[in-house]
Amino acid sequence: MSLEVKTSVEEFRAACDAIRASGGRLGLVPTMGALHRGHLALVEEARKRSSAVAVTIFVNPTQFGPHEDFARYPRDLARDVELCREAGVQLVFAPPVEAMYPRDERTRVNVAGLTVHLCGPKRPGHFEGVATIVAKLFNAAGPCVAVFGRKDYQQLKVVERMARDLLLPVEVVGHPTVREPDGLALSSRNAYLSPEERECALHIPRALALADTAFRSGERNVGVLLRLAEAEIRRGTSQIDYVTLADADEIEPLSIESQVGDRALLAVAVFVGTTRLIDNVVLGEDPPIF
Ligand code: PAJ
Repeated sequence: MSLEVKTSVEEFRAACDAIRASGGRLGLVPTMGALHRGHLALVEEARKRSSAVAVTIFVNPTQFGPHEDFARYPRDLARDVELCREAGVQLVFAPPVEAMYPRDERTRVNVAGLTVHLCGPKRPGHFEGVATIVAKLFNAAGPCVAVFGRKDYQQLKVVERMARDLLLPVEVVGHPTVREPDGLALSSRNAYLSPEERECALHIPRALALADTAFRSGERNVGVLLRLAEAEIRRGTSQIDYVTLADADEIEPLSIESQVGDRALLAVAVFVGTTRLIDNVVLGEDPPIF
């Protein structure tokens, strides 16, 4: 089947309507491009749950801070479109910034609570930018099943809650984190890493696996689990942004003296050189990393 590339909201909306009008179910995979196997796994998941898949490719300026990598974020639309074609995608939506942010636009979407901790305070405005663009993409696409990666677990929870709270006709589905054979979570930002930095980054999945193994052996003390993870990460980098155990639904940190229950989110953000990497595991829920 052929692939269509749309750049205007009107054309994209019409193409999505046409898929539904012919009795199909639309699958949606929002991305910022620089596609890798992680994104393609989301496409595969969307294909299983729908009859036609649309991938959106848009480097969203409002979710980047003033000193973040918006300008140098990798962009290669021709390559991304080819990968989508090979993956059996029907529709690519790659709008210019003006199409998603009309002149004099003033509206923002905020999801309270879930954005107070972890990446929220570290990247002011980030989740507002994400919730705003995803709401716009959902509105442009219309009723669909949308697939997001658990690699960005806090983002997944924000999007789930936003869609529910705003009564958007979208089923939000989470997909497991796709990793390299050595455990490193795939990320478009891995392209920034030198070979030495990439070695340092491997301590991130090892740290998550170490804490997960301890949890599986019965360790429930928050402080102990955090110290295990932190010590392993410090073998690769001293620049820890956060290492946090949190309630996996409300993204509310657990106090260091408390015990974790049946299920808890262990989330980390670290700098390796100038590159910020995030990763997580939901203890009691995710399969072992190694
Ligand atoms: P981006 O970083 O391009 O990621 C697009 C989708 O791919 C997200 O749902 C993300 O969680 C998922 N993803 C990335 N790496 C993954 C991996 N290793 N395994 C599984 N899934 C992975 O996230 C964004 O873009 C943006 O914030 C967006 C939602 C598109 C809004 O602008």
